[in-house]
Amino acid sequence: MRLGGKRNVEGAAGQRGQPHAPAGPVASAGPGGPEEAPTWVAPGEPIISLAGVTKAFGSHTVLEDVTFDIPKGRTTAILGPSGTGKSVLLKNILGLLTPDRGQIWVDGDQIVGMRERKLYEVRKKFGVLFQDGALFGSMSLYDNIAFPLREHTRKSEREIREVVLRNAELVGLLSHMKKLPGEVSGGMKKRAGLARAMVTDPEIVLFDEPDSGLDPVRVAYLDELVQTAQRETGATFFVITHNIDSVKRIADYMGILFRSRLVKFARKGEMLACDNPVIQQFLAGRPEGPIGMDEMADDTVPAGRPRPGTGPATAGGPGGPAAANGAAAANGAARRTSEDQSS
Ligand SMILES: Nc1ncnc2c1ncn2[C@@H]1O[C@H](COP(=O)(O)OP(=O)(O)OP(=O)(O)O)[C@@H](O)[C@H]1O
Ligand SMILES: [Mg+2]
Repeated sequence: MRLGGKRNVEGAAGQRGQPHAPAGPVASAGPGGPEEAPTWVAPGEPIISLAGVTKAFGSHTVLEDVTFDIPKGRTTAILGPSGTGKSVLLKNILGLLTPDRGQIWVDGDQIVGMRERKLYEVRKKFGVLFQDGALFGSMSLYDNIAFPLREHTRKSEREIREVVLRNAELVGLLSHMKKLPGEVSGGMKKRAGLARAMVTDPEIVLFDEPDSGLDPVRVAYLDELVQTAQRETGATFFVITHNIDSVKRIADYMGILFRSRLVKFARKGEMLACDNPVIQQFLAGRPEGPIGMDEMADDTVPAGRPRPGTGPATAGGPGGPAAANGAAAANGAARRTSEDQSS
């Protein structure tokens, strides 16, 4: 994938004065036992840092004291059981949800409490592929992919056409540009979402389960696209996924969330070799271990912490479909109603 002439920056630490999390990505003492102190420091500078991020909906604490850095110009994957707060984490990074405590730096800017207008500017650094695809149902794939360029750039329609078609070709959708999202398969929607997320050459690309609902071959194909795009753009990729095979293929770093907390964040190799029972169980996909069948109803939820799922419903709330619209502002897809989206 084309998308710009930026280069990978590992090792090219710059001075930004970003008071990021101490000593690079760190493990918090999560469930499954405390982790050893980190033995390495994030290479180069982090492009995003989270420090002590805590978020609750009513009495349901979804994220608790989450601290890690996202290294610049690399691919980071976040995993964790369903309902453990991964999408909420992503929406906090985009400023669509605000943490109750903690701080988040994006490329040197502390975004918690930032004014909406400034936040809008920060979001331009992002391309986002939401969990549900969040394509506009009433627009053709062409118009969906073109949308961020029309929204955020002054390019002429001729220039836009050139960029859109190049991206469409790279994701294999060139012959489907006139179709509406409702007329194409799930995999094609994902690829259109990927093309839209990348079309403005963003510095940071966030993917929320880009591979859910796809067959293994398509997942492998999508992974290749993601890898190529990351390599060629040097952008920072942040991927939320359940797919361990994908993570092994694409990630440089990974973190695992479990019961509101970050169990550990480290280089992929270190995570794969880690003997933490939560991490081992999750990576092996085993039924035996600390992660219960219905994790959110697990009897081992710490005393005093209300059972998850008892908070307010997501629909319409912050971070719900309407917020997803707002986040697509990061990608140029703002100011549309949720009815206009197709999943
Ligand atoms: N806007 C909201 N209002 C209230 N509760 C919310 C809201 N958004 C998320 N939640 C709750 O926060 C918890 C974590 O949700 P989240 O969507 O982040 O899970 P997830 O880890 O992404 O799960 P999955 O892997 O299934 O996508 C869930 O219990 C969810 O119901
Ligand atoms: Mg999710």
